[in-house]
Parts: sequence; structure tokens; C-alpha cells
Amino acid sequence: MNYQQIIAELKENVLYITINRPQKLNALNKEVLSELADAIANAQTNTEVSVILLTGAGEKAFVAGADISEFQNYSLEEGRQLAHDGHSKVFNAIEQSSKPVIAAINGFALGGGLELAMACHIRIASDNAKLGLPEVTLGLIPGYGGTQRLAQLVGKGLAFEMIFTADMITAQKAEQVGLVNYVVPQEQLLQKAEELIAKIKQRAPLALASAVRAVNAGFNPQLNGYQTEIEEFGKCFDTADFKEGSSAFLEKRKAIFKGE
Ligand code: COA
Repeated sequence: MNYQQIIAELKENVLYITINRPQKLNALNKEVLSELADAIANAQTNTEVSVILLTGAGEKAFVAGADISEFQNYSLEEGRQLAHDGHSKVFNAIEQSSKPVIAAINGFALGGGLELAMACHIRIASDNAKLGLPEVTLGLIPGYGGTQRLAQLVGKGLAFEMIFTADMITAQKAEQVGLVNYVVPQEQLLQKAEELIAKIKQRAPLALASAVRAVNAGFNPQLNGYQTEIEEFGKCFDTADFKEGSSAFLEKRKAIFKGE
């Protein structure tokens, strides 16, 4: 797929995905969503990709929400379908990605933008970032997983407060409440993300994928997280990476994993 609205660049086994509509504060229109879905799906089978970094173009916004101009005249069924497709093709696909996904939040992360960041496994924010779910100001509620993931990350009380008031919080407050892992000056955002990525890239890829499934299972009412952990732990013993990791430890050398 030839992307028009996002930039996808593979550098040193990291897939950098940049949402590239800075003049519209990177708002998520249909094309952005479909290109994101494609890039995330392809990354799953591309053995060159170890980690995915997601960010927004420009210095003002990560993503300022779903593109309001697109759904103004939607019916009940069209609204339901919009949320349904977004969940399955983009937001859940990111959360369930077998390759770790890091959000570098370089400015406003509002509505669908915060929901996108929350679907990622790790979030790092620049110190100018503002985060919020302002959907009720439009007569909506968050529809891309925000009611669930915000409550999971910050607890029910603060999630209700942020959704009810529609207030944005600062990056510093987001760090205090566990909504982002780190806050750094904007010019250091990618560097901080790359520091984390450098570590993650050295770890066993199949073990990372198992960790994603086990952690996510605990938040899925249809699954038993503990049981999933048991199964995934067992599966790790059947990998060449485990043989390599344990041999390297005993031989006092650095493990070199192949993701096999
Ligand atoms: N959907 C569509 N367009 C959006 C958008 C969105 N979610 N967010 C910003 N834009 C567009 C603006 O319409 C404007 O376009 P224009 O220049 O063609 O008029 C452009 O991006 C710049 O935004 P602007 O509002 O002029 O910037 P600002 O600095 O004054 O305000 C925000 C920044 C983020 C506070 C403001 O854009 C905003 O409130 N956006 C909507 C946030 C929202 O409600 N998101 C949830 C959607 S469900």
C-alpha cells in the first residue's frame, strides 16, 4: 500500500510510523485509519520489524482526535460501525501487536489521539503534551476504547473525571497518574523512545509476544490472564530463543536471539 497520510520508515529494525496531517493536527480520518491498519498488520509478518514507534508530524500535536468533519452526519448505525471497525482494525490490532508498540506523544493527544496512545504498550510524552478525552463536548463518548483503557490505566475515578469534565491534563500530571511512562523535553522525545527501544530490541522476540498476550489476557473478561500466562510460559520452553538465552547466561555471554 502506498501511504499518503502516514509515513512508515524502517530503520535498524524499528518501524517509525508518523501520522502526517500536521495542518489538521494529525486528526484521524478514514485514510489515516486505513493506512495505520495496513502498516500495523504488515509489521506483524515483517521479520525486519522488531519494535514499532508511533508519533505525529510537527511539534503541536500527536493526534487531536478523530476527524470531526467526517462523522458529523452519521446515523446510529454508521456511528456504531465507525467504532467497531476502529476497534478491530486499528486500536485492538495495536494493543495485540506481537511487536512492542511505543507512542511518542509530541503534543496534543485528544479523543481518538489519546485512545491511540493508550492502545500502545508504552507511552512517552513531550513536556508540551496535553492529554484528554473531550468527546462529551461534542455530544459523544470515547468510541475507540477510551472508556476502558483510561480506566485501566488511571483508575475509574480519574477516568470519570476526565471524561465528564473533558479537561485536558498536562504531561506532568499524566506521568504522575501513570498515563504515560516518561515526560521529556520535546527535543529529547525520540531519543528517550530510542533508549527504551534499544533495550527491547535485545530481548527475545517470541517472549515479548508472549508477554503481550499474557498481560492483555488479564484485561479481557473472556480470558483468564493467569491461565494464559501458564500457557505462554510453557510455550517459551519450546523456542530456540529460550535455549539461547539460558545457554548465554550459563556461559556468561550476551544472548543473540533470532525470534525462533
Ligand atoms: N478533527 C478535524 N479537524 C481538526 C481536529 C479534529 N479532531 N482537531 C483540529 N482540527 C483542525 C482544525 O479544524 C483546524 O483546521 P483549519 O485550519 O482548516 O480550520 C486545524 O486542525 C488546527 O486546529 P485549531 O483548532 O485551529 O488549533 P488550535 O491551536 O486553536 O486548537 C485544539 C487546538 C487541539 C485545542 C483544537 O484543535 C481542538 O479542540 N480540536 C478538537 C479536539 C477534539 O475534540 N477531539 C476529539 C474528537 S472526537
